[in-house]
Amino acid sequence: MRVYVPLDAAAKALGADEVAAAIQAEAARRGVEITLVRNGSRGMVWLEPLVEVATDLGRMAFGPMTTADVAALFEDLKAHPKALGLTEELPWMLRQTRLTFARCGVIDPLSLDEYELHHGLKGLKRALSLSDADIVAEVRESGLRGRGGAGFPTGIKWETVRTAKADQKYIVCNADEGDSATFADRMLMEGDPFTLIEGMAIAGLAVGATKGYIYTRSEYPDAVSQMTRAIQIARAAGVLGPSVLGSGRAFDMEVRVGAGAYVCGEETSLLNSLEGKRGTVRAKPPLPALQGFLGKPTVVNNVISLASVPVILDRGAAFYKNFGMGRSQGTMALQLAGNVKFGGLFETAFGLTLGEIVDDIGGGTATGRPVKAVQVGGPLGAWFPRALFDTPFTYEDFATRGGLIGHAGLTVADDSVDMLKMARFALEFCAIESCGKCTPCRLGAVRGVETVDRIARGDAAAIPLLTDLCDTMKAGSLCALGGFTPYPVMSALTHFPDDFAVMREAAE
Ligand SMILES: Cc1cc2nc3c(=O)[nH]c(=O)nc-3n(C[C@H](O)[C@H](O)[C@H](O)COP(=O)(O)O)c2cc1C
Ligand code: SF4
Repeated sequence: MRVYVPLDAAAKALGADEVAAAIQAEAARRGVEITLVRNGSRGMVWLEPLVEVATDLGRMAFGPMTTADVAALFEDLKAHPKALGLTEELPWMLRQTRLTFARCGVIDPLSLDEYELHHGLKGLKRALSLSDADIVAEVRESGLRGRGGAGFPTGIKWETVRTAKADQKYIVCNADEGDSATFADRMLMEGDPFTLIEGMAIAGLAVGATKGYIYTRSEYPDAVSQMTRAIQIARAAGVLGPSVLGSGRAFDMEVRVGAGAYVCGEETSLLNSLEGKRGTVRAKPPLPALQGFLGKPTVVNNVISLASVPVILDRGAAFYKNFGMGRSQGTMALQLAGNVKFGGLFETAFGLTLGEIVDDIGGGTATGRPVKAVQVGGPLGAWFPRALFDTPFTYEDFATRGGLIGHAGLTVADDSVDMLKMARFALEFCAIESCGKCTPCRLGAVRGVETVDRIARGDAAAIPLLTDLCDTMKAGSLCALGGFTPYPVMSALTHFPDDFAVMREAAE
């Protein structure tokens, strides 16, 4: 009997380790021989811990499992009270296009053999048969854009590093993942770490870098240990090291752990932190692509950007760019969180409307109350009211409507949420997380909190002041922390003026 219990941190937080131990104990008690695989998450967080049992028909899913549900796994599976059916036939799975997350939850994350059986290393092997310029051309042609937030074309960034002249170049993977509602990077690192390793090795070949770093945060201890073990396994198998897959070309990498400051996800601040310095933002230019880690040309890419590269090299740019809409090509790992019925990770081609994502896929709110708004793109993203739920999920459409998709985290709020408090929270967050380098952000965020408090006390004159302050932060901040905090603030004010009505407090 082959049983799968996720080792994913979200599943563990919901009791996966206890369920796994109970399964082992029950099997021993009954004298049943089992193989227990700790897999990644399938992304259905509301069903975690989601246990799977291999059957002749395919893998059957059970969840959310508790230790009390374990004994029944050894009896008639179909009659199990938590039986959900075949995993691959669950609506959540059927509706997805899993390219980057194709293996996550399917394979044993640390089995290189299983990885190869599921198309692993094909992209790297193809990359080894191409010139550096051709690898970059393939990535550029695929339409892949940065999944970390800014949406910059990955191929163009790589070309800048490839053509830079230097004795040493670096690949830095941004795995800081500080945005609210986001967990895709963590899920991939825990559930399918070899995909990230393969993507970084391809990036190294493409630009002529022999060393890579994964910069992640101390709040991700499972991802850190999983990635570290996967790197050791890849090195022992010759996937990494002085001769990648026997090619004679070197690439190796290591994991570095930061202390989890939000601003350390900003690429120049990240590079400072990686160099052992304080995580403050560097002015650009120079671009990290030309003067990055230790002053050398450096590719800084998000986990999902890099993990999307193996499938692009394996299946070809044309295959990948066929998914999506307009200039938003390929797939995006949507992360549904907050007050949502079906929270989790859902990979799909760009182009679904926000309403389809929140109402159909997410199933509305967990509380059952009407959805009031959704914040898209993390703490610097705008709040979208229901009136904008026809917005297609693309970089361009969100920008046109005063928002951003960022790392594709969606925080759902029901009608009990006070948007004035959300605006205050955004400014408070900025005040706490500001690196302090520039005045509009360092002081503006603090003044912003005070100004929102004045509005809450019924001071009408404070509303134009808040707008003015947001304009200054937007125009004068050095990086997007100060520059984009106005998005959640102004979207809350614009779409939900009643929550800022100055008579409210007086009337209450
Ligand atoms: C305040 C701030 C925090 C950021 N945090 C992250 C992060 O956690 N992960 C990430 O990939 N990008 C983050 N970014 C974006 C990075 O600066 C950079 O654009 C990204 O790593 C580039 O990779 P990509 O092109 O693959 O998206 C952040 C940006 C800012 C301004
Ligand atoms: S906007 Fe804020 S976080 Fe960014 S450089 Fe200025 S002070 Fe630092």
